[in-house]
Amino acid sequence: MIICRAKDYDELSRRAANIIGAQIIMKPDCVLGLATGGSPVGTYKELIKRYEMGDLDFSQVSTVNLDEYRGLSPENDQSYRYFMNTNLFNHVNIDKACTHVPNGLEPDADKACADYDAIIDEMGGIDLQLLGLGHNGHIGFNEPADTFTLGTNCVDLQASTIEANTRFFASADEVPRQAYTMGIGSIMQAKKIVVVVSGKDKAKILREVVAGPITPRVPASALQLHPDVTIVADEAALSLLDAE
Ligand code: GLP
Repeated sequence: MIICRAKDYDELSRRAANIIGAQIIMKPDCVLGLATGGSPVGTYKELIKRYEMGDLDFSQVSTVNLDEYRGLSPENDQSYRYFMNTNLFNHVNIDKACTHVPNGLEPDADKACADYDAIIDEMGGIDLQLLGLGHNGHIGFNEPADTFTLGTNCVDLQASTIEANTRFFASADEVPRQAYTMGIGSIMQAKKIVVVVSGKDKAKILREVVAGPITPRVPASALQLHPDVTIVADEAALSLLDAE
């Protein structure tokens, strides 16, 4: 694991965008795995800047997102499809037909998951997967569990995840209770993984992810087994690792 240190969120966002930008330059038709949540918003802003400056071309890029709330339509402003459109896709020259998010409106969970696994397969694998980190160590929406997930699965969100994501909704009652998420197995098959982690509230879980035991109770700890992971973190998030 490489730890790429940034002094604050802005620097972290520039560094993560530099890595993703390099991927696009070196392989213009790359497949990017993308994430939602607060952590990657700055990275997307930086990618948009680089596109506007003429340094990046998204015309051949394809994307697969990690997850989507079950039951939310793409037009719902809390859906992850809406998030991706407003935070990145609407602002760069990507072909939206080449961008993929699990179908939150598919009521048949088995079908939704199988369809998404088929899409990932058809794309021939992920060149670079961007991840955020949940406070309980979740990646995508893979919550702490007894076993690591393999393919796309339908999850019941934990109370702590619902609480953390309430800030994006009018109230906790409006946060969907389930989501479709890419599995840990699919994430681990990405050729390269970049994790963006910011803030003191992530310091404890980041230490567990990097230096604790590999366990499905901390889903992101599986990343210790991946050959090419870069954690881009700010000083606040790294504070407990630094203290050791
Ligand atoms: C959500 C998303 C994850 C994200 C996590 C952390 O639950 N499904 O993909 O990484 O929250 O979010 P944030 O970056 O806002 O802390």
